[in-house]
Amino acid sequence: MARAPLLLLPPLLIANSFFLVIANEPPPPSQTTVTIDPNTVLVLFGTRHGNRNPEKFVDSPKSWGQEGELELTSIGKRQAYGLGKEIRSFIGSFINGNYLPAQAKFYSSSANRCQMTLQSALAGVFDPSDWADWNTDQLDHWSPVPYSIDDPLLRMYSVKGCVNSDKAWDPISKDSLPDLRELVERSKPLLDYMKERDGRDPTISSAADIADNIINMDFYNATYPEWLANPSLSGYNPSTIRRAYLSFAENHMNRCASYKPCRDMMGGLWANHIINSLESAASGSGKTKLIGYASHTEVTLSVMILLGIQKSELTTSAGFVIELRNSTVPPHVRLLQHDPNPIDDHVIYPAHLVPELSSKSDSDGWMPLSALKEYVSPTSFSDWESQCGINHCSLPSSSQSSSLHNSAVSSSNCLDSLPPLECTELMDTLGCDHPHPQSYCRKTCLCSNSPLSQSQSDSQSLSLSQLVPSSSVISSVPISYQTFPEGSYSGSYIFYGK
Ligand SMILES: *[C@@H]1O[C@H](CO)[C@@H](O)[C@H](O)[C@H]1NC(C)=O
Ligand SMILES: *[C@@H]1O[C@H](CO)[C@@H](O)[C@H](O)[C@H]1NC(C)=O
Repeated sequence: MARAPLLLLPPLLIANSFFLVIANEPPPPSQTTVTIDPNTVLVLFGTRHGNRNPEKFVDSPKSWGQEGELELTSIGKRQAYGLGKEIRSFIGSFINGNYLPAQAKFYSSSANRCQMTLQSALAGVFDPSDWADWNTDQLDHWSPVPYSIDDPLLRMYSVKGCVNSDKAWDPISKDSLPDLRELVERSKPLLDYMKERDGRDPTISSAADIADNIINMDFYNATYPEWLANPSLSGYNPSTIRRAYLSFAENHMNRCASYKPCRDMMGGLWANHIINSLESAASGSGKTKLIGYASHTEVTLSVMILLGIQKSELTTSAGFVIELRNSTVPPHVRLLQHDPNPIDDHVIYPAHLVPELSSKSDSDGWMPLSALKEYVSPTSFSDWESQCGINHCSLPSSSQSSSLHNSAVSSSNCLDSLPPLECTELMDTLGCDHPHPQSYCRKTCLCSNSPLSQSQSDSQSLSLSQLVPSSSVISSVPISYQTFPEGSYSGSYIFYGK
């Protein structure tokens, strides 16, 4: 049986063809073009995870993909390790070759592929020696390095209850933005052909998953399924159909980053974390010298755009590097980016900045930190719960009295998150005396999204007790408890008769 011509391409062409995936951007330089500034006091890097498997494998001989769906592949590990090696080559002796907690801090999304990317990268950053050696026979160049998993920071789209993230994604997921609708229309033959031959839904995200399959079949020199190797769709040959599906790669993720509501929701908290870290290092109050983050396409690309980097796509294991120096008054920052080239080698080079920032940068790319902060501040945020629209006090759809609702305090369906105490139990626990038989007691949870002081809490209860017929109020018991991740959360139980 005849093989598709592209499977016979020489290695160089296969490697180059990988960059067709990021065809809208100039290719990265073949080598790192920047050196660390001698006065740098903080380096941050953020990265998209390395190469991963598709969500659903095409039906073809499986010589690859054993890690499972969406998991980091050996190519992805090599890309991330290459990133780590290049970060170390860039920073040199800026931090110790052994991991020291006071010098370095790392964050990952909860996704396996991001955690494994970070672990692989850190294997390239740190090379234990001397006191840090612990198993020179088997693991001479590796030692564990800790990191924090932080989804609001690095994977907001999967944070439970973040309704504004779901809302921002909705028109993208449903292909209902005008350009996506038009793309679906224009791509109908390709989508229908995919449906007919592979069985998946004729959507942009299915086509993007075909692209992910192609990228990995190329990396692993695997045999394409017949419908891609010898397309029966009129107007296409093996090479043009491959390219056509590759053009869908990461389409929705890229679209999120170019769609303001989605971009801000994905990257705003991370952008804030970056600015805060830079400011605290600039003032000499932060001791950390290296901060690294591992995340996803849409989140990493979004934060890069929020930071003023001109970018519309991001390949696996690519991202940004930021340097801060405070030898000058005011302190200055420099934005760089990094890319795999295309697997084991990695390159770091100056980022292409928006005009508002490039006009404030010198020829080496350094700009005042205040300029970056000013550019980022309209879109960054720290209070992610309210940005998400997480409302601990939302009104239940029915059954409770809406007259209890006011802006500060509302009658709530937060009973689930309250201590699981029954009314009588609570009465007993708190030692409340009341003159009525317990059968007349009803429990209503009242809570506030912001911590209330005791006196506020008392007065809120008071004003609320005015909202229910005062004769029916038996007692109101302010309570407070802790919420994740921080802050206290106050509320009251109001007991009133039927
Ligand atoms: C795919 O083939 C090329 C060229 O022969 C080779 O360099 C590369 O290592 C192969 N990739 C894998 C994952 O085996
Ligand atoms: C600059 O940063 C270093 C290291 O964080 C710190 O020791 C120093 O005090 C800072 N200098 C100024 C002028 O803030």
